[in-house]
Amino acid sequence: MTIHSNPAAGLDGVAAAVTALSHVDGEKGELIVAGMRIGELAQNTDFEGLTARVWAAAMAREVDAAEARRWLGQARVAAFQRLPAILPATAGLPMIDAFRVAVAAIAPIDGLASEAAIVGAMPVFAAALVRQAEGKAPVAPDPALGHAADLLRMMRGEEAGVEEAKALDAYLVTVADHGMNASTFAARVVASTQANLFMAVTAGYCALTGPLHGGAPEPVLDMLDAIATQDRIASWIDEALARGERLMGFGHRIYKVRDPRADVLKRAVERLGGRGTDLGFAAEVEAYARRALEVAKPDRRLDTNVEFYTAILLDALKIPRRAFTPIFAVGRTAGWTAHALEQQRTGRLLRPSSIYTGAMPG
Ligand code: ACO
Repeated sequence: MTIHSNPAAGLDGVAAAVTALSHVDGEKGELIVAGMRIGELAQNTDFEGLTARVWAAAMAREVDAAEARRWLGQARVAAFQRLPAILPATAGLPMIDAFRVAVAAIAPIDGLASEAAIVGAMPVFAAALVRQAEGKAPVAPDPALGHAADLLRMMRGEEAGVEEAKALDAYLVTVADHGMNASTFAARVVASTQANLFMAVTAGYCALTGPLHGGAPEPVLDMLDAIATQDRIASWIDEALARGERLMGFGHRIYKVRDPRADVLKRAVERLGGRGTDLGFAAEVEAYARRALEVAKPDRRLDTNVEFYTAILLDALKIPRRAFTPIFAVGRTAGWTAHALEQQRTGRLLRPSSIYTGAMPG
């Protein structure tokens, strides 16, 4: 048998799926999701519309955006009813683990497809866990609202401004799908065994949580806090790189140029007008970090990734930093469910090989 990849290289360049869902061009810095560039999608489609598009592409049939919106509203209401059974099992856990327990407890809903039950449950659980950590009771969903607006409302206990809801919506659209990233791959491996979508999405979330993937935005804010002032930018970054540390929010396995999602999120945070982290300061940190990485790693092409402006946007929306990874999962679940459906339809088990380097029996 021919072995095609170097296992030490983390499956770089190995195509693990044939997909109609998304395409990442790392050289051009381009992301296409279900036929549209990410910048266009974030401007013209809301999260429900995007979710309908990826489900439609996965199942090769029409999915109406208005219907998806109704399903998600219905699923949020059903998920809320399950909170009394779920929240006690999460008490005392760090948010990232509490959300894992909640995701694992998502249940089927009579009359709704699994993908709708799952995507609908995510914001309800994320909002309830944020409130639980603040000692507050959960707030019931409003199925008439959009997914993003309802998430902010359930989290805060009051309706968010239109611009805030739009900014979160743009974020959810921007992170909804992204080629064969680690969490999507994990979800597809599970779905390839013909396990159900609930199993696949739980695996996806677990893979998302690490700092090399979706766990980075919280440390991005920690970094900005640690730098604190303009005059410390250069020394802080130079010293971190000299110690061999990674700058959070920079570098990507596929993108060799700036991640196109960074711009979409930067624009969304600009429209919020001066809330949260000082955008001028963040842009200076970004610019210095890009130059410093060029010098420190001249043979690599390390540029800004999605997590840098994710952190700044979610902070501007007053979402606590410990909830950043669960909020990322709220968006990415559209992609995980679509990929799991697409993988199941292939009927093919994902089962790579390995290269044995252990001892052979004598
Ligand atoms: N800061 C400093 N150095 C870096 C960074 C960084 N952010 N990223 C990579 N490098 C260095 C590595 O130390 C390594 O150097 P070496 O060859 O001298 O040992 C070299 O660049 C290549 O690193 P790899 O780990 O091989 O790159 P890979 O493609 O596997 O990593 C990753 C991509 C994990 C995102 C990496 O760039 C990283 O750790 N970034 C920081 C964490 C982060 O921002 N994560 C979010 C990613 S976006 C997302 O998943 C949603």
